[in-house]
Formats: sequence, structure tokens, C-alpha cells
Amino acid sequence: MLFDERPKTRKEDLYDRDKEVEELKGNVGRPLIILTGIRRIGKTSILNVALSELDVPKVLIDARSLPKNYGLRDLYGLVADSLTSSLDKFREVLSRVRGVRILGYGVELSWRGKDFMSLSELFDALNRKGGIIAVDEAQRLRGPNSKLFLEALAHAYDYDRNLTFVLTGSEIGLLYDLLRVDDPYSTLYGRYYKEIRVRRFSREESIDFLVKGFEEAGVKPKNVEEAVDLLDGIPGWLTFYGKRCLDGKCDPMEVMNMAVSLAMRELKALLRGRSKRYFTVMKAVASGARSWSQVKRYVEEAEGRALSKSVLYNVLSNLERLSILKDYEFLDPVYEEAARRLT
Ligand SMILES: Nc1ncnc2c1ncn2[C@@H]1O[C@H](COP(=O)(O)OP(=O)(O)OP(=O)(O)O)[C@@H](O)[C@H]1O
Ligand SMILES: [Mg+2]
Repeated sequence: MLFDERPKTRKEDLYDRDKEVEELKGNVGRPLIILTGIRRIGKTSILNVALSELDVPKVLIDARSLPKNYGLRDLYGLVADSLTSSLDKFREVLSRVRGVRILGYGVELSWRGKDFMSLSELFDALNRKGGIIAVDEAQRLRGPNSKLFLEALAHAYDYDRNLTFVLTGSEIGLLYDLLRVDDPYSTLYGRYYKEIRVRRFSREESIDFLVKGFEEAGVKPKNVEEAVDLLDGIPGWLTFYGKRCLDGKCDPMEVMNMAVSLAMRELKALLRGRSKRYFTVMKAVASGARSWSQVKRYVEEAEGRALSKSVLYNVLSNLERLSILKDYEFLDPVYEEAARRLT
């Protein structure tokens, strides 16, 4: 069903995206594929559908469930859970790795002590079977322990010819910061990767998506153009509108307000621990500042103090790395409205 709000897993539920799914499938066999796009654009759905169509062993790791300052125990726990879901394919090769225990249908990994299992050893074992290791929202691996994963990834890139890694990321700049393939001092320096960028729907596609979704549910399409005017071509928000409308709320403005509340919570979570100035800069852009000097003036007026160049530069570039802004514009109209209403 097109208006199901969970990430899609079946081709019939995925609107369009044939090109992206085929591109992903066609590049399996290469060591590293990156799937990028802003939040709610459909990365996980494309990944799921491509994986479901490929008849190869796979492990799907959802890095979004890692805590912010994750430790080794968290990382190994997550990998163990992911392996548990793919145990039928990898049981045999895993059973021979030191530090891996298989108890019935569960996997346990030793993250310290004499039985310590390194991720490189794990990847070497999975390589014997071959297949895909996908990490959804891989930028969440950033942090003091990211080195372990990156070193193992570099090792697998060079030696594990039967493995393909697929990493997705919605905070695109942060994903590049993690990989740093252009930095001679970084672990993955010089490794080539195939990048697939997921773009928003065009206006025509967005309208067609909504119409098809309503038709599929046996309901007359309602306020489709107004909804697209507000929500743009972001499939996740269009699905949000479609689902609300099926539940009886077909006023696009009312649904926009609900989406904005959600986006406000997300923005606050994303910027937790950062200075209030991030919100002021976002408000500046949301209220129309389109250049360095306009943003600077807005923030200085709001704070009543002169701002140093480097501070403003940092805030703006971090907002870009989080894929919230690009060239003094919001990438998502709902986030823009949320920023405008922030107090
Ligand atoms: N092509 C599509 N056809 C139908 N529904 C879609 C499509 N793309 C995305 N959706 C819907 O939009 C929402 C977001 O999709 P998904 O979770 O796959 O995106 P994402 O890019 O992984 O988002 P996030 O960055 O939040 O993880 C879900 O409700 C999903 O069902
Ligand atoms: Mg996702």
C-alpha cells in the first residue's frame, strides 16, 4: 500500500524508483555503495526493495538505533542482533569464528577479553559465504569508536572480494565526514565508492503518487495539489498526508501543522547539546535571509552582539552537513516552517 508509513519492502508498494533500485542491484559486486538523500526521501525503502529482490545472503544493520556516544558493547550488540536476523544464511561460517557464540537462534559476540572478536575477522568469515552488508544511517557510527568499524571496512574493501557494503545516510555531510575517502590520513583514503543519490519527486510525480495512493485505497483523491504545494516532492511527507487523509483529516494545512510539530521535535533532537544560535540561524534563513551578510545581520540583531566570522561559518556548515540547509535554503519545506515557528 502506497500510504503505508513504514519503509516499503515490496516493489509493488514502492512508487517509481526503478532506476535507483536497478542501480543499486547492478552495483552489487563492487566493494562499497553509498545511498544518500534527505530524510523521508525513501532510502530505506529503496534499500529494502533492492535487497528483497537480490538472491544473496545479506545483513542489515540499522545504525539509527545506536546511542549517541555508543560504546563497543552497543556496537557489538547491534551487529549481533543484525546477524541473528540473517542467521540461516551465515550460521555455518559464523560458527567457526572465535568470539562468536550461536545459541539456538541468537548470536553473541565477544567485544573484549580473551575471546575478543574483531570486526575484520567477522567480515572475513562472512566473506566465505559472500553477500551484502548494509548499514542504514551509517553516519550514526561517528564517534570515538568509529575507527574500529572503518578499519574493518577498509580491510574488507581490500580483501573480502565477495562482500558488498551498502551505506545509507540522511545527514549526508556527516556521512562523508565519517568516510573521508579524500583525506590521506584517513583509514579509507583513496577507496572508490559508487554513490546513488535519491532525489525528490517532481511536481507531476508527487501529484501522481497521491492520486495513485488514494485510488489504491478506493478513495477519491482530495486536495492533492494543495498538499504538494505545502509538502513538496518528499515521499515521506506525501505519505504522511495520504495516511492522515484516509484517517479523515484531508485539510492540507492541518496536516502540515501536524508535520511541523513532528519536524520541530526532530530538529530539537538533531541539535540537542548545540548552542541556541543554531536555531537563530535557521530562523534567519526561514525568514528569508539568502546570503552571508543577511544571516549575520539577522543573528546580530536577535542576539544584540557582533558575531565572529568563524562562529557563523561553523554553524552554517554544520547545518549543511546535517542536510538541513544548502546555499541558504532549507532542503525540506516542513523543516523550514518548523524553524520559522521555533521560539
Ligand atoms: N517511492 C516510494 N513509494 C511509496 N512510499 C514511499 C516511497 N519513498 C518513501 N516512501 C514512504 O515515505 C516514508 C519515508 O521512506 P523511507 O523510510 O524509506 O525514507 P528514508 O529516506 O529512509 O527516511 P529516513 O531518512 O527518515 O530514514 C515511508 O513512509 C515510506 O513508506
Ligand atoms: Mg531510513
